[in-house]
Amino acid sequence: MTQHRDDERVREVRIDALAFGGDYNPDQWSEETWHEDIRLMKEAGVTMVSLPIFSWPQLEPEPGVYDWGWLDRVLDLLHAAGIRIDLATATATPPSWLLRAHPEMGPWDAEGRRLEFGSRQTYCPSSPIWRENVARMTRAMAERYGEHPGLAMWHISNEYGDHVSRCWCSESSRHFRRWLADRYGDLDGLNEAWGVNVWGQRYTSWDHIEVPRTAPGPINPTQLLDFERFSSDAMLELFQLEIDVLREVTPDIAVTTNFMSMFRDLDYWDFAAREDIVTDDAYPEPADPASHVGAALNYGLMRSLKGGRPWLLLESSASATSWRDVNVPKAPGKIRVESLQAVAHGSDSVMFFQWRQARYGQEKFHSSMLGHRGERSRSFQETKALGNELKRLEQVRGTRVRSRVALVVDWDSWWGSSAVESLPSQRLQWADQARAWHRAMHTLGHAVDAVRAAGPFEEYDVVVVPNLYIADQAQADAMRAFVENGGHVVVGPFSGVVDATEKVHEGGAPGPLRDLLGIEVDEQWPLADGVVERAFYDGDTIDVPCWAEWIEADADVEVRGVHASGVLEGRPAITRRTVGSGSAWYVSTMLEPEGMLTVFRDVLRSAGLPARRHVDVDAEAVTRTDGTTDYTFLLNHGTAPVAFALPASGVDLLTGADAAGVVELGGYGAAVIASPHAASVPFISLTAPNE
Ligand code: GLA
Repeated sequence: MTQHRDDERVREVRIDALAFGGDYNPDQWSEETWHEDIRLMKEAGVTMVSLPIFSWPQLEPEPGVYDWGWLDRVLDLLHAAGIRIDLATATATPPSWLLRAHPEMGPWDAEGRRLEFGSRQTYCPSSPIWRENVARMTRAMAERYGEHPGLAMWHISNEYGDHVSRCWCSESSRHFRRWLADRYGDLDGLNEAWGVNVWGQRYTSWDHIEVPRTAPGPINPTQLLDFERFSSDAMLELFQLEIDVLREVTPDIAVTTNFMSMFRDLDYWDFAAREDIVTDDAYPEPADPASHVGAALNYGLMRSLKGGRPWLLLESSASATSWRDVNVPKAPGKIRVESLQAVAHGSDSVMFFQWRQARYGQEKFHSSMLGHRGERSRSFQETKALGNELKRLEQVRGTRVRSRVALVVDWDSWWGSSAVESLPSQRLQWADQARAWHRAMHTLGHAVDAVRAAGPFEEYDVVVVPNLYIADQAQADAMRAFVENGGHVVVGPFSGVVDATEKVHEGGAPGPLRDLLGIEVDEQWPLADGVVERAFYDGDTIDVPCWAEWIEADADVEVRGVHASGVLEGRPAITRRTVGSGSAWYVSTMLEPEGMLTVFRDVLRSAGLPARRHVDVDAEAVTRTDGTTDYTFLLNHGTAPVAFALPASGVDLLTGADAAGVVELGGYGAAVIASPHAASVPFISLTAPNE
């Protein structure tokens, strides 16, 4: 690993407005068009654009021969128009001449096939040639534009891992061995960690170790897990390499790389620690009426990656994407409410891919702010209205989201439950569990932050842990301390199962969490596909699909849910234990959405937190605050009207009108209510249509 120099300083993005704009690709258009772009950008209220993300070949057409002229002119035009620049280091994809001169820098897939040029990101993250050239290009960009007055921040690479997040070439194998030697010291350490006596896998030389290419059968689980960790770290090294160059040449300019929401392949906690600001690209599926729920989870993660600091939505779509099988456009009004949702969740920007819709290439059917019909296009009319409306929300910039509930996001457990091939069931997946648990809290009216498995938890009343397959003592200790001090932890199934080397904890699950939860898992009890069992919960009957466990509970544990059918009938399913002044819950089953609501209502009640009585998954309320004023965003993600009950009166910043009591919003409606800061997090309940 590159030595990471701890840098506590966080540089501010140089922009004094909410950022509004998008990816800009002027090198796909004539200079005449640039002037029209600037005119229309001003009309639309654009304050920032991102470029030149994929332009390395246009900036260095031959090795060492640069053509800066066109970019100089574009940057000057933008600056003269008052538009800030999210300047890419242009290293998102290599020029063809680089790959042809060094074919060994290309990526390989798990079957050992080299991936061809002709798309983008045709590089192996571990390649020394690639790294050397990335550092060279980054330095050239920083030296040329580091003092440009329009520069707002550095945009490093682009969506690391979008196409190639893992590489199985021989260079990657060499790098993997170095990474393993760092982790385990010597070969005995590695053999011990990987449990090589199973299936005769003992290694007698480092050179015998390879990245896990396709093998005759299931691959060693620790090897698979380490490959996930290594691959995330290899990309992180690449990121750090650019950061180091930029810090040296432009020490005061903020750096970022744009994330891909809840992206499995890279541990964003590690990435976010290295950058100044979190930025995200978000593409909720327009065809999915509940895609805003997933978006809320993603945005909760984005604001939490740097401890609640505002982040930037750097890309979204003005209407349809072009990379899905079927690319459904967004209905009128949806762009606005989806964009305001990101701001509600802590984004200080609304940006799109891309400014002007392409006429050629892979993304010509991807919507843009300025559609093929130019200023007459619906997307332009809607984004222009939005850009101008955002000016009314300036005071929200820099404020932080208020939340009482956090969800543990842990990449190790995500990888463990998805990379490892031999598990009790492939139906229990970390990401699905996280989404289901988040959805329940969202539906009950809570904005949910993300938190690491070892905390810090003190800011919250309730911490939910949908799945922590890989758990250690430090995490268990942090949860215990939180509960003893009055916190409430809810742990999901198949948690505390293995340690960091994929070895089952002594005595089985929940391993280090046993003392806190007061239960033991005798056997995991996955259900056959299609089988749905039942459990009794507090007078209700709830469905149990896919997964259950045979658990034994200590005498001081309260059994809240009991299996009501199948082999496990009469046995505990959901437990609660009082510890100190808090409580520790264990949910040993997977649950359907209704059952999740029943259980989480109970959790919230016992934690002293409110829960919506009348629920509507489309009605979302999130509050940001600066400590003096609370800004409560009311959002209707559906087409039917919804009615929110305000706890305090205020002013709707979008309309300037006073707001009090019940606020009704029509389809895709939104309001942003400014009211004096309340001591406890404002809770917005809903009024049933017939109330
Ligand atoms: C990603 C990329 C962009 C573009 C968009 C299209 O977010 O960063 O370059 O391809 O997807 O949705």
